[in-house]
Amino acid sequence: MVKEITVSKIMSDSAIALREGEYFDEDHYNTILDEDTDVYTDDGKLLLKFRKNVIPSKLTDNALVAYGVAAKKTHENRGAAAGVLDRNKMNRYIGDFVNEGKFRTKFISNTTGIESKQATSNLSASNIAGYYDRPDRNLLGKGPPCRLTAFNRDNPDLWDKSVPFLRKVDSLFKELTPDRHAAQLKRCQQVSQFAIADTAYSTITINYSWRTALHKDAGDYEDGFGNLIVVEDSDNPHKYRGAYMGFPQYGVAANVRTGDFLAMDVHEWHCNTEFIPDYKVKVDKSDRNVINGWHFNRLSIVCYLRNDMLRCKKAPTKQSPPSSKIKISPVRSYTMAGGGKSSKNLSKFTEVRKKTLGKLPEGFIEYMNRNYPTFFDY
Ligand SMILES: [Fe+2]
Repeated sequence: MVKEITVSKIMSDSAIALREGEYFDEDHYNTILDEDTDVYTDDGKLLLKFRKNVIPSKLTDNALVAYGVAAKKTHENRGAAAGVLDRNKMNRYIGDFVNEGKFRTKFISNTTGIESKQATSNLSASNIAGYYDRPDRNLLGKGPPCRLTAFNRDNPDLWDKSVPFLRKVDSLFKELTPDRHAAQLKRCQQVSQFAIADTAYSTITINYSWRTALHKDAGDYEDGFGNLIVVEDSDNPHKYRGAYMGFPQYGVAANVRTGDFLAMDVHEWHCNTEFIPDYKVKVDKSDRNVINGWHFNRLSIVCYLRNDMLRCKKAPTKQSPPSSKIKISPVRSYTMAGGGKSSKNLSKFTEVRKKTLGKLPEGFIEYMNRNYPTFFDY
């Protein structure tokens, strides 16, 4: 018989909303789940179902091989989940903040002196795989509305290797929350060209050593349910305790480890508790990865259905056109004959450079800064 518990709010809706983007440590929670448990709120709503050790290691091993490297790539568009703005967690090229929010801001680039057009957040090792219901930002508005993710486009073999793992996760989702699964599966398979095999998922998010701050998920199917799996990376000696997945408004968190499965209401406020080092190897304590807790061996995978995929029902094919790599000539340094830059010529150079950069397409400078931080240096 699976344990069942009922939880009540320990914080009001307004009090918890004010904490968006903040962290909640382990000592906030009344209950840390570490065994099979179903959790309901006191108004009868399912909050989560947690099962220990239900995914065979051969499948989690495949997931690690498939996603382990890609999950480590950082992004700066994760908003509240990436935490309150902290320069130690942000790209180096970010200068003065403009229209600064709690966890998102525009900025003046240190390298170009130009104001960003898109907002940025703290960096997070968080990526997507499967299919997505927004055009690729790198194609500057010219990509198809629904598409294969870059991970699938670039790693078809790794992706294929991981599909049995995703099928297993989907079967657990079906077994534990059949109604939610049925509704999500039906909607997902209406756009089968952007569904992950025969599952109820269009998309997965893969994160590495990422402690999320307080947030609710957005962009996924409202009536579905999020599915979380963790795989501890055996090649990384930086083991951990903690990093529980918590619902701080209800004071309950779950210790999700390799092989476990958590079906959770991702439209309730949630976040992770702190990582507690559980390793004996030496680390460089001045290393940014160590300071920010980005070095722990925790790969987490969230499987879900993107809500707007339904718009692409009539799209003809599963495969997006191959990425048209944008060809743009680099901005060349304006170097004077003889190789020197006199102060007069330097100011001319600065002026020409600024004008040139100002003419570049929207999003391009931010894209290049993100991926090639020294591209605009001179
Ligand atoms: Fe989330």
